[in-house]
Amino acid sequence: MVGSRDADRAQALAAELADLAGPGAAPIAGAANPAAAEAPVVCVAVPYAAQAELVVPLAPLLRGRIVVGTAVPMVVTGDGPSAVAVPQGSAALALADSCPGARVVAALHTVSARHLLGPAALAEDVLVTSDDAEARAVVVDLIARIPGLRALDAGPLAGAAATERLTPVLLRLNRRYRTELGLRLSGLPDPAAAPR
Ligand SMILES: NC(=O)c1ccc[n+]([C@@H]2O[C@H](COP(=O)([O-])OP(=O)(O)OC[C@H]3O[C@@H](n4cnc5c(N)ncnc54)[C@H](OP(=O)(O)O)[C@@H]3O)[C@@H](O)[C@H]2O)c1
Repeated sequence: MVGSRDADRAQALAAELADLAGPGAAPIAGAANPAAAEAPVVCVAVPYAAQAELVVPLAPLLRGRIVVGTAVPMVVTGDGPSAVAVPQGSAALALADSCPGARVVAALHTVSARHLLGPAALAEDVLVTSDDAEARAVVVDLIARIPGLRALDAGPLAGAAATERLTPVLLRLNRRYRTELGLRLSGLPDPAAAPR
């Protein structure tokens, strides 16, 4: 289910994604944000500056649900991308403030949308943080279903302050080395580490 402020836009994007996914894939539908917010796992994929504005009115619907934050608070100036300070310490902690009672998880900050959509095989790690161990495990399991992504249990939500800040650094490295980096950690047992 794809959400949007505009249900028609969500349906158009859902149709595009269904085309990309091809026949045999699970159905993809589009709806206005309040309908999408009734999913058991809700992914908030809007810019940090729009996060509270989007989430606060939906907070009663999100209570008890798993809400995945992806926002990277950053600005891009002539000097390149830089992290922006957030009063709560991270966009993920700000998200938790915006939807009390939701089971907030933070993930996917270092995975480029272009990589996810692109034809090349992914080979990346995703650091998943949350104060709710069960919600964290659900999201680790969901992300691990994406071929080429290794989802890692990275502990409490406070860790999102670090994972969010990695993204502008990776983007600077992309510029410096004229590439499109993904994050890959060494030293993990293969296949993907089962969290202890
Ligand atoms: N792009 C990446 O590669 C990437 C990688 C890692 C993390 N992230 C993070 O993921 C989030 C989404 O990134 P993105 O590149 O998809 O962002 P985006 O294209 O700028 O925005 C995604 C959607 O957010 C909605 N939106 C924008 N302003 C809004 C507002 N004021 N209120 C409510 N909804 C609003 C829009 O959907 P509607 O107009 O349909 O409502 C828009 O299509 C960001 O927080 C970003 O930091 C992105």
